[in-house]
Amino acid sequence: MTLTGTWSYPTAIRFGAGRIAELADACKTAGITRPLLVTDRGLAGMEITQTAIGLLDAAGLGRAMFSEVDPNPNEVNVTAGLKTYRDGGHDGVVAFGGGSGLDLGKVLAFMAGQTRPLWDFEDIGDWWTRADPAGIHPIVAVPTTAGTGSEVGRAGVITNSETAEKKIIFHPKMLPTQVICDPELTMGMPPAITAGTGLDAFAHCVEAFSSPHYHPMSQGMALEGMRLVKDYLPRAYADGADLEARAHLMSAAAMGATAFQKGLGAIHAISHPVGAIYHTHHGTTNAVCMPAVLQFNRPAIEHRFDQAAAYLGLTGGYTGFCTFVDDLNASLNIPPTLTALGIKTFDIDRVLAGALKDPSTGGNPIPMTAENTRPLIESLI
Ligand SMILES: [Fe+2]
Repeated sequence: MTLTGTWSYPTAIRFGAGRIAELADACKTAGITRPLLVTDRGLAGMEITQTAIGLLDAAGLGRAMFSEVDPNPNEVNVTAGLKTYRDGGHDGVVAFGGGSGLDLGKVLAFMAGQTRPLWDFEDIGDWWTRADPAGIHPIVAVPTTAGTGSEVGRAGVITNSETAEKKIIFHPKMLPTQVICDPELTMGMPPAITAGTGLDAFAHCVEAFSSPHYHPMSQGMALEGMRLVKDYLPRAYADGADLEARAHLMSAAAMGATAFQKGLGAIHAISHPVGAIYHTHHGTTNAVCMPAVLQFNRPAIEHRFDQAAAYLGLTGGYTGFCTFVDDLNASLNIPPTLTALGIKTFDIDRVLAGALKDPSTGGNPIPMTAENTRPLIESLI
């Protein structure tokens, strides 16, 4: 089977090795004539990024790049990026990278024609209707990791650097109009990042699958996304040049992010404040949290994961699934606790407050309260 395809769900996706060559055509299809390529500092000098800039340049689209993007992008990055975008007279964004480059790029395109301040568009109630849709510029998204799935998402996560809170900026038109999923771009990821990002995709699938909301489409996608991670993350971790494994993980990432329209849960609710305060890797933090959250949610999800285990070829139902997660984490060298992740002094009150306020909390199948979430967090330290 050739792992290539051109899909229209949930947006236009050009999937397959080597398809970065279509970057200029994707810009033209999106109506972009003066793109600003947005990526993070680490990627800016790498060969894959220079190749992408070269492709734009060769097509007469210029070689403008903004890379002042922190690992957890914040409002300072947004302000600086908007200045570059407006000063350059750009008419669209190529969001290029992992979660940070993709999210900042999407938020810049969203904010390009807005007059209200960024935090007015936080994902609360119908605040997204405050935006002027005509002021949202087109986005071409190019993931270089297989985890976040932000390339098919309608939101960007921006950290408020004053309060160390992760805020979700949401608008339906923030969904990129063109996506290039080229698994060759992920071949250079070191094993630890391959593991962390792959387990972020896995957490999206597990939390979507656990969420109590009615969304059978997401449920099916989450299940197959879990299978792809189970079958191919160990291969990509062992051999970063395994293109077949890289391709399936890139699909799993897009599937996880599509599936979590159904909801996320306690893993992300805890991981978000931990990441915002201690700057830990998002996917790796999720992986540390997952075993305890599976136990926490057991009364609500046990039957569902009996079914998942059967599909995944795991014996022992829900318990077998939990054992599989423990073994997978161990095989990928995921630390067993948040302390082992490198957090020296843990402010449990601050993390608890952040978790209970996080929008992911609403998707957890067991309602999260201070009384039950405090011991959950304590078990992770
Ligand atoms: Fe995530």
